Amino acid sequence: MKFSWKVVALMLFLFHSRNRFCLAEESDSGSASTLPKGQESCAGIFLRYNFVSREKEYPRLKNATAQSWAFNSSVTILNMGTTELKAWKIFIRFQYNEILVSADGAVLTNSADFPAPVGNGTYLAGYPQTDLETSIDTANDLEKIQAKVKLKGTQFGLRSPKNPMPRTLRLANDGYRCPSPTHRGSSMYLFCVKDSKIKANKTTTKFLPRQKGDLLIAYDVTQAYVNNYLVEITIENKHALGRLDHWNLTWEWTRGEFIDKLKGAYVRELDVSDCLNGKAGNYYEGMDFSSVLNCQKRPILFDLPPTKANDTQMGKIPYCCRNGTILPTTMDGTKSKSVFQMQVYKLPPDLNRTVIYPPQKWKIVGVLNPDYKCGSPIRVDPTKFPDPAGLEAIKPAIASWQIVCNISRPTKGNFRCCVTFSAYYNKSVIPCDTCACGCQDELKCNPSKQAMLLPAEALLVPFNNRSKKAIAWATIHHFKIPKPLPCGDNCGVSVHWHVSSVYKQGWAARMTLFNWRRLNFENWFTALQFRKAGSGFQKMYSFNATLLSKLNNTIFVQGIEGMNYLIGLTNGSNPEKDPAVPGKLQSVVTFKKKAGLDIAKGYGFPSKVFFNGEECAIPSRIPISSVVRFSVNLSTLFVCKIASFLLIQHLN
Ligand SMILES: *[C@@H]1O[C@H](CO)[C@@H](O)[C@H](O)[C@H]1NC(C)=O
Ligand SMILES: *[C@@H]1O[C@H](CO)[C@@H](O)[C@H](O)[C@H]1NC(C)=O
Ligand SMILES: *[C@@H]1O[C@H](CO)[C@@H](O)[C@H](O)[C@H]1NC(C)=O
Ligand SMILES: *[C@@H]1O[C@H](CO)[C@@H](O)[C@H](O)[C@H]1NC(C)=O
Ligand SMILES: *[C@@H]1O[C@H](CO)[C@@H](O)[C@H](O)[C@H]1NC(C)=O
Ligand SMILES: *[C@@H]1O[C@H](CO)[C@@H](O)[C@H](O)[C@H]1NC(C)=O
Ligand SMILES: *[C@@H]1O[C@H](CO)[C@@H](O)[C@H](O)[C@H]1NC(C)=O
Ligand SMILES: *[C@@H]1O[C@H](CO)[C@@H](O)[C@H](O)[C@H]1NC(C)=O
Ligand SMILES: *[C@@H]1O[C@H](CO)[C@@H](O)[C@H](O)[C@H]1NC(C)=O
Ligand SMILES: *[C@@H]1O[C@H](CO)[C@@H](O)[C@H](O)[C@H]1NC(C)=O
Ligand SMILES: *[C@@H]1O[C@H](CO)[C@@H](O)[C@H](O)[C@H]1NC(C)=O
Ligand SMILES: *[C@@H]1O[C@H](CO)[C@@H](O)[C@H](O)[C@H]1NC(C)=O
Repeated sequence: MKFSWKVVALMLFLFHSRNRFCLAEESDSGSASTLPKGQESCAGIFLRYNFVSREKEYPRLKNATAQSWAFNSSVTILNMGTTELKAWKIFIRFQYNEILVSADGAVLTNSADFPAPVGNGTYLAGYPQTDLETSIDTANDLEKIQAKVKLKGTQFGLRSPKNPMPRTLRLANDGYRCPSPTHRGSSMYLFCVKDSKIKANKTTTKFLPRQKGDLLIAYDVTQAYVNNYLVEITIENKHALGRLDHWNLTWEWTRGEFIDKLKGAYVRELDVSDCLNGKAGNYYEGMDFSSVLNCQKRPILFDLPPTKANDTQMGKIPYCCRNGTILPTTMDGTKSKSVFQMQVYKLPPDLNRTVIYPPQKWKIVGVLNPDYKCGSPIRVDPTKFPDPAGLEAIKPAIASWQIVCNISRPTKGNFRCCVTFSAYYNKSVIPCDTCACGCQDELKCNPSKQAMLLPAEALLVPFNNRSKKAIAWATIHHFKIPKPLPCGDNCGVSVHWHVSSVYKQGWAARMTLFNWRRLNFENWFTALQFRKAGSGFQKMYSFNATLLSKLNNTIFVQGIEGMNYLIGLTNGSNPEKDPAVPGKLQSVVTFKKKAGLDIAKGYGFPSKVFFNGEECAIPSRIPISSVVRFSVNLSTLFVCKIASFLLIQHLN
């Protein structure tokens, strides 16, 4: 009985999925641009990848797997459904180490520049045609219901007669389900259908709902004329530990636009040469380009210093002019956003009030801040501004776009700050990992050797002045001395965590911040997360610390008001002989003891540390008691029951 029930279920499933996905059964339909036979009745989104041609690139190699090829291919997205597809987005999983050189009709959503390595797959979003209307609404106008993307790039390997196809392809918009594609020679295709499980909200609006994210940028057009428009750009921090200092914002104009005026921000280069020598100069013959701010394709903008806040020409915009500081709301809600205004001139064929294309490839960076990755602008409902006259009325923007930027965790070698550990039961300090923040000089040092243990005082001097101390320390304690010596960490900031004592009711630690850059950090913050011990947080003596129990018991630490500077690296008193001196800040922290947590077993060391929003590299070891000599690393730590038993014995 059971067995046959399973068969029935399977058949039902097959029948069901067949209907849903319109699986193609027929043989190759020949022409690439037409639909596969028998598929005209499918209500969904039709996607087709078509490999066009390829040719060998130079150098010509004997080794077929190393040979590179130039290829052409195309992707077609056709809306055959009854609802509009807004802001279409597809994912192509390539497999031959492809490098895209151009994508006509689409943009890479991760703001990467061409040539872009996409060997692991890539997302493409429609541009300039972002939306695909329905056949019903457009009287079957292919121009409006279909998008075509022409891809050009390089790929590696695969002998000649074969068709180098991507592994898979799908629609990446929310609310759609896609089957695996059907392969037919040099093309592959599939139908994606609306997922009936996701109940579509009755959209009362024309546009996509606003998205959540770590940093939200709004592009709100407030005034539009035939050949220019005024836009207000709002950058808002939505992450509890997100932050920007001295931000630089950049994007790419794709329709030849240029910036005439800015209020509340400024451009790094007042460069109009592209206008004078290009299309803009030709079209706006009578224009005085000496008063135009910037004509670069990728301008770099930055916030004004506070001295310009009341300047009616440049400033006078609420939320502007804080020298590029955007703080988390956990610190100061009034400083969690930046706003500026910009006047943009357009070029033909976009000379129409209603024709506005926001720039693409947004990127925002700060000094020692998290790495933000921004998506492409998505058209959303117009932002509603309060009435300029101060009355109880609203004034919607003419058109609004949203750019969502999310924090991406730094990977090994790409950190900008790091952590060092020590404890009262072990005289050695565990330094930051070798090359935690990258390595430049790999010839003189070893980038893959574990960092050498140090005496505590070595932490006070720059890495270049530590080698003698490290070697002497290793000699005394019979540690191995690698040759060449391991490279430094190259981090801008380091955070030292010293477990200083464990007593009956609790335990204490000392946190020291070191600034190795010549730059001061104003209003710095540090956030600490522990595996388990965080909720026992009691008090920090010289800093203002709060326990954010809603945020995984993060301990949020900032300077006390009026004393919140972490000064930069300065020269020694005798610069010729003395090493440079890092900026330092220190405080003692106390915790209540929690049953079952052995501090020396590793619970007393933070599992995550953030400085100004940037996640710091944590060393791969912790100090262990010198009596029990075997290596413990953080992942095996909690399995080592015997070790902990011995440690407890030793500590008591
Ligand atoms: C790609 O197509 C263009 C024109 O459409 C053609 O000039 C070029 O040779 C093609 N490249 C390859 C590698 O087939
Ligand atoms: C061919 O090139 C590939 C990739 O560069 C390499 O891994 C492989 O060892 C090469 N084979 C020969 C026989 O040289
Ligand atoms: C693809 O992913 C692998 C493993 O995650 C990584 O090692 C490799 O560098 C990636 N390649 C590209 C081109 O991003
Ligand atoms: C539908 O609307 C509700 C309330 O506005 C929201 O919580 C929910 O996430 C929406 N669902 C979708 C699929 O957008
Ligand atoms: C950013 O993160 C949010 C969740 O926090 C997610 O919904 C959104 O899709 C992400 N956006 C991008 C562009 O990655
Ligand atoms: C700008 O004007 C406000 C209000 O008049 C004043 O409080 C502030 O100090 C002024 N700022 C500067 C930089 O002059
Ligand atoms: C603003 O930031 C710049 C660096 O971007 C710095 O040199 C300058 O001193 C800062 N000004 C103020 C008033 O903080
Ligand atoms: C501007 O665009 C709208 C809508 O696309 C169109 O109806 C109108 O004719 C255009 N105006 C001009 C002057 O091209
Ligand atoms: C911003 O741009 C300027 C000029 O290009 C550069 O000197 C500065 O280092 C940049 N700041 C950041 C945070 O990248
Ligand atoms: C809390 O920690 C868990 C596990 O490490 C993680 O999945 C979650 O995203 C964290 N939540 C916050 C708000 O940081
Ligand atoms: C400590 O930080 C909290 C939260 O940011 C703030 O409300 C309080 O005023 C600060 N206290 C001092 C003494 O700086
Ligand atoms: C201190 O801790 C380190 C790292 O866990 C360990 O290698 C060393 O043997 C311990 N003892 C001494 C005396 O340094």
